Amino acid sequence: MNKKLFIITFGCQMNEADSEYMARLFRRRGFSLADKLDEADAVIVNTCTVRQLAEDKAVSQIGRLKYWKKSHPEGKLFVTGCAAQRIGAKKIKKRFPYVDEITGARSIENFDRLLDSVYRKNKISGEEGKKEIPENTGPENIYRSPLTAYVTIMRGCSHRCSYCIVPSVRGPATFISREEIIKDAKEKLAAGARELVLLGQTVNSYRLSGFTFSNLLEEILVLPGLERLRFMSPHPLYFDRDFKRILKQNSRLARHIHLPVQSGSDRILKLMRRGYTHQQYLELLAELRAEVPDMSFTTDFIVGYPGETEEDFQETLRLVEEAGFTAAFCFKYSPRTDRPEMAADISEKIMESRLDILLKAVKKNSRVILRERIGKIEEVMFETPDFGRSSSNMAVRINSETAPGSIRKVEILSAERNTLHGKVIL
Ligand code: SAH
Ligand code: SF4
Ligand code: F3S
Repeated sequence: MNKKLFIITFGCQMNEADSEYMARLFRRRGFSLADKLDEADAVIVNTCTVRQLAEDKAVSQIGRLKYWKKSHPEGKLFVTGCAAQRIGAKKIKKRFPYVDEITGARSIENFDRLLDSVYRKNKISGEEGKKEIPENTGPENIYRSPLTAYVTIMRGCSHRCSYCIVPSVRGPATFISREEIIKDAKEKLAAGARELVLLGQTVNSYRLSGFTFSNLLEEILVLPGLERLRFMSPHPLYFDRDFKRILKQNSRLARHIHLPVQSGSDRILKLMRRGYTHQQYLELLAELRAEVPDMSFTTDFIVGYPGETEEDFQETLRLVEEAGFTAAFCFKYSPRTDRPEMAADISEKIMESRLDILLKAVKKNSRVILRERIGKIEEVMFETPDFGRSSSNMAVRINSETAPGSIRKVEILSAERNTLHGKVIL
């Protein structure tokens, strides 16, 4: 009896990591992953609520699963994640009575026990089945190449960025113990991962009884089998001196940092409670580039924050010119609270137009950044015979073929759109 699980994940890497964790718990109960919804005996919708649109997508997905449930009356439908936390089980149950189980993002730790109760009739595929499959069967790599594995090092967030719903749906920051993190990292490397991505909402704020993010990096960087280490998302306030030293000394630490800035206007940054200014953010990039000149940076922006003036927006455009981002995710402000001062007061038309201008500015600058790589040597980890990602997280294509999983030095010959082209030299 091979039961199948289908997972639909919305939102960020932390949700993806949670989906993988839940998949693992299902696997211990004898489930494998379904390729198609129709094959599934259980479905998880892991939801996001960071913007209204993200929540709406997840909710309409739950709506569509009514048909699956009709044709699979024995199947179990699970709704999990951040939107489940925000909306609440009662309301979800009321609107979608066919949903079997609802677990908010804060209660992911209870998911194992929840599965025990849901599948208690099949004791054999429950407790017994769990023991048959060894712990280190490796990561459920649902989202990426098998070379990359996520390692969650903290949950929740203790910042109070004015626009953000994450702290309220995920709770305050809690840090996973050094022992657990190292164990998780080792298991994933043993299962074949060569690149690890440390995850947390302010991942570099990690600190547990004096053991810091930088300390953690140093311990992970020496683990056997690790070729590349990434982390997401750091906050500009938490890079210490140790980090800069480690970055310089250890090229296994990726030459790319995703560092959300949100706005280039000091006035807006203050209202957002980000804790840095336009100038301080640029200085941080300069300090990191002073250690490693070819560091690549990507970022997130929000346009149309309440009260954002044309001058504020111009400051954001100026930051784009100055920072040299490889890419940026740009979002329209979406109110996540009913507080009147946080309502969207910039018209949809202006928001659209600012988004459009910003996207174009980012693209124009990123073309320059990519072209600067021509003639340089990039260290590329190949995901397919002719495609891989550089340490700077740029997409690289070659004309020849090499073994997937290998890391090769590639000389960059040209840059087209978002992709570098080159030839293997070593
Ligand atoms: N912890 C990360 C960001 C997590 S949310 C950090 O502090 O940088 C991912 C991105 O969603 C944010 O960087 C922000 O750009 C965007 N975002 C968050 N709340 C939003 C909102 N209310 N409206 C629009 N975009 C939002
Ligand atoms: Fe949200 Fe990130 Fe700010 Fe935390 S640090 S409140 S997750 S934007
Ligand atoms: Fe969305 Fe929750 Fe991530 S709100 S962005 S899935 S932390």
